[in-house]
Amino acid sequence: MTQNDDYVLGRGIMDSVRLDAQHLLWKLHRGYELHPHIPVTEYMKIAELGTGTAVWIFDLARQLPPTVQLHGFDISESQFPEKGLWPQNVTLGVLDSLVDPPSSLSGQYDVVHLRMWASNLRESDISTLTSHVKHLLKPGGYIQWEDADLVHQRIKGAEAEKFERNINEIFKKVGLDYSWVSNLPNSLRKQNFEIIESETGYFKPELVQLCTNTYLMALREIIQGIKRILSHEMLLSITEQELALYQLSLQNTGSIYNWSPLVLLAQSSGVDV
Ligand SMILES: C[S@@+](CC[C@H](N)C(=O)[O-])C[C@H]1O[C@@H](n2cnc3c(N)ncnc32)[C@H](O)[C@@H]1O
Repeated sequence: MTQNDDYVLGRGIMDSVRLDAQHLLWKLHRGYELHPHIPVTEYMKIAELGTGTAVWIFDLARQLPPTVQLHGFDISESQFPEKGLWPQNVTLGVLDSLVDPPSSLSGQYDVVHLRMWASNLRESDISTLTSHVKHLLKPGGYIQWEDADLVHQRIKGAEAEKFERNINEIFKKVGLDYSWVSNLPNSLRKQNFEIIESETGYFKPELVQLCTNTYLMALREIIQGIKRILSHEMLLSITEQELALYQLSLQNTGSIYNWSPLVLLAQSSGVDV
Protein backbone atom coordinates (compact mmCIF):
# COMPACT_ATOMS: atom_id res chain seq x y z
CA MET A 1 0.00 0.00 0.00
CA THR A 2 2.92 2.27 0.83
CA GLN A 3 4.21 2.83 -2.71
CA ASN A 4 1.30 1.72 -4.87
CA ASP A 5 -1.59 3.97 -3.86
CA ASP A 6 -2.55 6.59 -6.46
CA TYR A 7 -1.52 9.70 -4.49
CA VAL A 8 -0.80 12.38 -7.09
CA LEU A 9 1.80 14.28 -5.02
CA GLY A 10 5.28 13.01 -4.14
CA ARG A 11 6.58 11.82 -0.78
CA GLY A 12 10.26 12.84 -0.98
CA ILE A 13 12.14 15.23 1.29
CA MET A 14 11.00 18.30 -0.73
CA ASP A 15 7.37 17.22 -0.31
CA SER A 16 7.83 16.83 3.42
CA VAL A 17 9.33 20.32 3.69
CA ARG A 18 6.44 21.65 1.57
CA LEU A 19 3.90 20.09 3.95
CA ASP A 20 5.69 21.59 6.93
CA ALA A 21 5.74 25.02 5.21
CA GLN A 22 2.00 24.65 4.55
CA HIS A 23 1.56 23.94 8.25
CA LEU A 24 3.16 27.32 8.96
CA LEU A 25 0.78 28.88 6.42
CA TRP A 26 -2.28 27.43 8.20
CA LYS A 27 -0.88 28.25 11.63
CA LEU A 28 -0.35 31.90 10.73
CA HIS A 29 -3.73 32.02 8.95
CA ARG A 30 -5.80 30.58 11.81
CA GLY A 31 -3.67 31.16 14.92
CA TYR A 32 -4.46 27.73 16.43
CA GLU A 33 -4.01 24.00 15.85
CA LEU A 34 -7.06 22.64 17.69
CA HIS A 35 -10.15 24.78 17.05
CA PRO A 36 -10.77 26.88 20.21
CA HIS A 37 -14.46 25.83 20.29
CA ILE A 38 -13.44 22.21 21.06
CA PRO A 39 -13.25 21.57 24.83
CA VAL A 40 -9.93 20.08 25.96
CA THR A 41 -10.34 17.27 28.49
CA GLU A 42 -7.65 15.30 30.29
CA TYR A 43 -8.12 11.92 28.59
CA MET A 44 -9.48 13.01 25.21
CA LYS A 45 -8.45 11.16 22.04
CA ILE A 46 -7.66 12.94 18.80
CA ALA A 47 -7.10 11.34 15.38
CA GLU A 48 -5.70 12.90 12.24
CA LEU A 49 -6.37 11.25 8.87
CA GLY A 50 -3.82 11.66 6.08
CA THR A 51 -1.31 12.94 8.63
CA GLY A 52 1.68 13.16 6.20
CA THR A 53 4.71 14.31 8.21
CA ALA A 54 2.53 14.51 11.36
CA VAL A 55 3.52 18.16 11.78
CA TRP A 56 0.02 19.17 13.00
CA ILE A 57 -0.04 16.35 15.58
CA PHE A 58 3.48 17.10 16.82
CA ASP A 59 2.70 20.81 17.15
CA LEU A 60 -0.58 20.09 18.97
CA ALA A 61 1.01 17.55 21.34
CA ARG A 62 3.19 20.35 22.80
CA GLN A 63 0.07 22.36 23.65
CA LEU A 64 -2.11 19.73 25.35
CA PRO A 65 -1.86 17.79 28.63
CA PRO A 66 0.42 14.72 28.25
CA THR A 67 -2.58 12.51 29.12
CA VAL A 68 -4.32 13.37 25.82
CA GLN A 69 -3.78 10.69 23.16
CA LEU A 70 -3.01 11.72 19.59
CA HIS A 71 -3.15 9.21 16.73
CA GLY A 72 -1.98 10.07 13.21
CA PHE A 73 -3.05 7.80 10.35
CA ASP A 74 -1.94 7.75 6.74
CA ILE A 75 -2.16 5.37 3.80
CA SER A 76 1.65 5.59 3.63
CA GLU A 77 4.25 5.80 6.38
CA SER A 78 6.89 7.27 4.02
CA GLN A 79 6.74 10.76 5.51
CA PHE A 80 6.45 9.78 9.19
CA PRO A 81 9.34 10.91 11.41
CA GLU A 82 11.36 8.07 13.01
CA LYS A 83 9.47 6.36 15.84
CA GLY A 84 12.10 7.34 18.42
CA LEU A 85 11.23 11.01 17.74
CA TRP A 86 7.49 10.76 18.49
CA PRO A 87 6.20 12.51 21.63
CA GLN A 88 5.21 9.90 24.27
CA ASN A 89 1.46 10.43 23.75
CA VAL A 90 1.61 10.28 19.92
CA THR A 91 1.16 7.15 17.79
CA LEU A 92 1.39 7.04 14.00
CA GLY A 93 0.06 4.19 11.90
CA VAL A 94 -0.90 3.09 8.39
CA LEU A 95 -4.63 3.21 7.67
CA ASP A 96 -6.63 3.75 4.48
CA SER A 97 -9.37 6.28 5.25
CA LEU A 98 -11.40 5.20 2.23
CA VAL A 99 -12.41 1.86 3.73
CA ASP A 100 -14.17 1.11 7.03
CA PRO A 101 -11.78 1.35 10.00
CA PRO A 102 -11.16 -1.75 12.17
CA SER A 103 -13.78 -2.22 14.91
CA SER A 104 -11.12 -1.55 17.58
CA LEU A 105 -11.16 2.13 16.49
CA SER A 106 -14.94 2.43 16.35
CA GLY A 107 -16.36 5.32 18.43
CA GLN A 108 -12.96 6.04 20.00
CA TYR A 109 -12.30 9.67 19.14
CA ASP A 110 -13.42 13.06 20.49
CA VAL A 111 -11.93 14.83 17.47
CA VAL A 112 -11.01 13.76 13.93
CA HIS A 113 -8.85 16.22 12.01
CA LEU A 114 -8.35 16.35 8.23
CA ARG A 115 -6.27 18.83 6.30
CA MET A 116 -5.29 19.24 2.65
CA TRP A 117 -7.27 16.31 1.25
CA ALA A 118 -8.04 18.17 -2.01
CA SER A 119 -5.72 16.02 -4.15
CA ASN A 120 -6.52 12.73 -2.39
CA LEU A 121 -9.96 12.16 -3.91
CA ARG A 122 -10.66 11.41 -7.56
CA GLU A 123 -14.42 11.90 -7.41
CA SER A 124 -16.90 14.37 -5.98
CA ASP A 125 -18.61 11.81 -3.72
CA ILE A 126 -16.98 12.03 -0.31
CA SER A 127 -19.39 9.70 1.50
CA THR A 128 -16.81 6.88 1.87
CA LEU A 129 -14.47 9.25 3.68
CA THR A 130 -17.17 10.82 5.88
CA SER A 131 -18.51 7.37 6.76
CA HIS A 132 -14.97 6.43 7.92
CA VAL A 133 -14.86 9.59 10.07
CA LYS A 134 -18.28 8.78 11.58
CA HIS A 135 -17.11 5.31 12.55
CA LEU A 136 -14.14 6.81 14.41
CA LEU A 137 -16.03 9.55 16.27
CA LYS A 138 -17.78 9.27 19.61
CA PRO A 139 -21.38 10.59 19.48
CA GLY A 140 -21.07 14.38 19.64
CA GLY A 141 -17.42 14.21 18.51
CA TYR A 142 -15.93 16.94 16.34
CA ILE A 143 -14.64 16.92 12.80
CA GLN A 144 -12.15 19.71 12.19
CA TRP A 145 -11.22 20.17 8.54
CA GLU A 146 -8.99 22.65 6.71
CA ASP A 147 -8.65 22.38 2.96
CA ALA A 148 -7.66 24.11 -0.26
CA ASP A 149 -10.48 25.33 -2.49
CA LEU A 150 -8.94 25.13 -5.97
CA VAL A 151 -12.10 26.34 -7.70
CA HIS A 152 -12.22 29.80 -6.09
CA GLN A 153 -8.61 30.85 -6.47
CA ARG A 154 -6.85 34.20 -6.23
CA ILE A 155 -4.67 34.61 -9.30
CA LYS A 156 -2.83 37.76 -10.37
CA GLY A 157 -0.67 38.36 -13.44
CA ALA A 158 -1.24 37.55 -17.11
CA GLU A 159 1.08 34.51 -17.11
CA ALA A 160 -0.52 33.12 -13.96
CA GLU A 161 -4.03 33.57 -15.38
CA LYS A 162 -3.06 31.82 -18.61
CA PHE A 163 -1.45 28.95 -16.70
CA GLU A 164 -4.57 28.55 -14.55
CA ARG A 165 -6.82 28.25 -17.63
CA ASN A 166 -4.54 25.70 -19.28
CA ILE A 167 -3.88 23.54 -16.25
CA ASN A 168 -7.59 23.45 -15.40
CA GLU A 169 -8.27 22.09 -18.89
CA ILE A 170 -5.73 19.34 -18.26
CA PHE A 171 -7.20 18.55 -14.82
CA LYS A 172 -10.59 18.16 -16.48
CA LYS A 173 -9.21 15.85 -19.18
CA VAL A 174 -7.50 13.54 -16.69
CA GLY A 175 -10.50 13.54 -14.34
CA LEU A 176 -9.04 15.57 -11.46
CA ASP A 177 -12.15 17.16 -9.93
CA TYR A 178 -11.55 19.54 -7.05
CA SER A 179 -15.12 20.88 -6.77
CA TRP A 180 -15.96 18.63 -3.81
CA VAL A 181 -13.96 20.93 -1.51
CA SER A 182 -16.25 23.94 -2.19
CA ASN A 183 -19.25 21.66 -1.53
CA LEU A 184 -17.85 20.25 1.70
CA PRO A 185 -20.18 22.09 4.12
CA ASN A 186 -23.25 20.89 2.19
CA SER A 187 -21.94 17.34 1.94
CA LEU A 188 -21.35 17.18 5.71
CA ARG A 189 -24.79 18.65 6.42
CA LYS A 190 -26.32 15.92 4.26
CA GLN A 191 -24.34 13.36 6.26
CA ASN A 192 -26.08 14.64 9.41
CA PHE A 193 -23.17 16.62 10.83
CA GLU A 194 -24.07 19.85 12.60
CA ILE A 195 -21.97 22.65 11.12
CA ILE A 196 -20.52 24.91 13.81
CA GLU A 197 -18.23 26.96 11.59
CA SER A 198 -17.71 27.09 7.86
CA GLU A 199 -15.50 29.77 6.40
CA THR A 200 -13.77 30.44 3.11
CA GLY A 201 -11.74 33.49 2.23
CA TYR A 202 -8.32 34.59 1.07
CA PHE A 203 -4.95 34.82 2.73
CA LYS A 204 -3.84 38.09 4.31
CA PRO A 205 -1.23 39.96 2.23
CA GLU A 206 1.66 38.77 4.42
CA LEU A 207 0.76 35.11 3.74
CA VAL A 208 0.10 35.37 -0.02
CA GLN A 209 3.70 34.65 -1.06
CA LEU A 210 3.94 31.58 1.19
CA CYS A 211 0.78 30.21 -0.39
CA THR A 212 2.01 30.96 -3.91
CA ASN A 213 5.38 29.31 -3.24
CA THR A 214 4.01 26.14 -1.68
CA TYR A 215 1.21 25.88 -4.26
CA LEU A 216 3.60 26.20 -7.23
CA MET A 217 5.76 23.47 -5.67
CA ALA A 218 2.70 21.25 -5.25
CA LEU A 219 1.65 21.88 -8.85
CA ARG A 220 5.04 20.69 -10.04
CA GLU A 221 4.39 17.43 -8.21
CA ILE A 222 0.82 17.18 -9.51
CA ILE A 223 2.11 17.62 -13.08
CA GLN A 224 4.63 14.79 -12.52
CA GLY A 225 1.78 12.66 -11.17
CA ILE A 226 -0.37 13.46 -14.21
CA LYS A 227 2.50 12.55 -16.55
CA ARG A 228 2.49 9.05 -15.09
CA ILE A 229 -1.18 8.48 -16.01
CA LEU A 230 -1.27 10.53 -19.19
CA SER A 231 -2.18 9.45 -22.71
CA HIS A 232 0.51 9.98 -25.39
CA GLU A 233 -1.45 12.73 -27.19
CA MET A 234 -1.47 14.95 -24.10
CA LEU A 235 2.24 14.79 -23.47
CA LEU A 236 2.95 17.98 -25.45
CA SER A 237 0.35 20.10 -23.64
CA ILE A 238 1.55 18.98 -20.20
CA THR A 239 5.18 19.67 -21.14
CA GLU A 240 4.14 23.19 -22.21
CA GLN A 241 2.50 23.71 -18.82
CA GLU A 242 5.55 22.36 -17.04
CA LEU A 243 7.56 25.09 -18.76
CA ALA A 244 4.96 27.76 -17.96
CA LEU A 245 5.05 26.68 -14.31
CA TYR A 246 8.84 26.91 -14.28
CA GLN A 247 8.59 30.52 -15.56
CA LEU A 248 6.03 31.34 -12.86
CA SER A 249 8.26 29.82 -10.19
CA LEU A 250 11.10 32.23 -10.95
CA GLN A 251 11.13 34.71 -8.08
CA ASN A 252 9.98 38.32 -8.39
CA THR A 253 7.55 37.83 -11.26
CA GLY A 254 4.92 39.60 -9.15
CA SER A 255 2.44 36.80 -9.80
CA ILE A 256 -0.03 35.58 -7.21
CA TYR A 257 -1.19 31.96 -7.35
CA ASN A 258 -3.31 31.15 -4.31
CA TRP A 259 -5.98 28.62 -3.48
CA SER A 260 -8.67 29.70 -1.01
CA PRO A 261 -8.46 28.36 2.53
CA LEU A 262 -11.62 26.56 3.66
CA VAL A 263 -12.14 25.96 7.37
CA LEU A 264 -14.83 23.76 8.77
CA LEU A 265 -15.85 22.61 12.23
CA ALA A 266 -18.78 20.24 12.62
CA GLN A 267 -20.17 17.90 15.23
CA SER A 268 -21.38 14.37 14.75
CA SER A 269 -24.95 13.71 15.80
CA GLY A 270 -24.11 10.05 16.25
CA VAL A 271 -27.15 9.22 14.11
CA ASP A 272 -26.59 7.57 10.73
CA VAL A 273 -28.48 8.74 7.63
C1 LIG B 1 -1.32 16.87 1.06
S1 LIG B 1 -0.92 15.68 2.28
C2 LIG B 1 -1.49 16.48 3.75
C3 LIG B 1 -0.77 16.03 5.00
C4 LIG B 1 -1.25 16.66 6.30
N1 LIG B 1 -2.67 16.48 6.50
C5 LIG B 1 -0.91 18.12 6.35
O1 LIG B 1 -1.81 18.99 6.25
O2 LIG B 1 0.28 18.44 6.53
C6 LIG B 1 -2.15 14.42 2.05
C7 LIG B 1 -1.87 13.14 2.84
O3 LIG B 1 -3.00 12.26 2.71
C8 LIG B 1 -2.51 10.93 2.58
N2 LIG B 1 -3.55 10.07 1.95
C9 LIG B 1 -3.90 10.02 0.64
N3 LIG B 1 -4.90 9.12 0.45
C10 LIG B 1 -5.17 8.58 1.68
C11 LIG B 1 -6.09 7.60 2.15
N4 LIG B 1 -6.94 6.98 1.33
N5 LIG B 1 -6.11 7.30 3.47
C12 LIG B 1 -5.24 7.92 4.33
N6 LIG B 1 -4.36 8.87 3.94
C13 LIG B 1 -4.32 9.20 2.65
C14 LIG B 1 -1.24 11.08 1.76
O4 LIG B 1 -0.40 9.95 1.89
C15 LIG B 1 -0.65 12.37 2.35
O5 LIG B 1 0.21 12.09 3.42
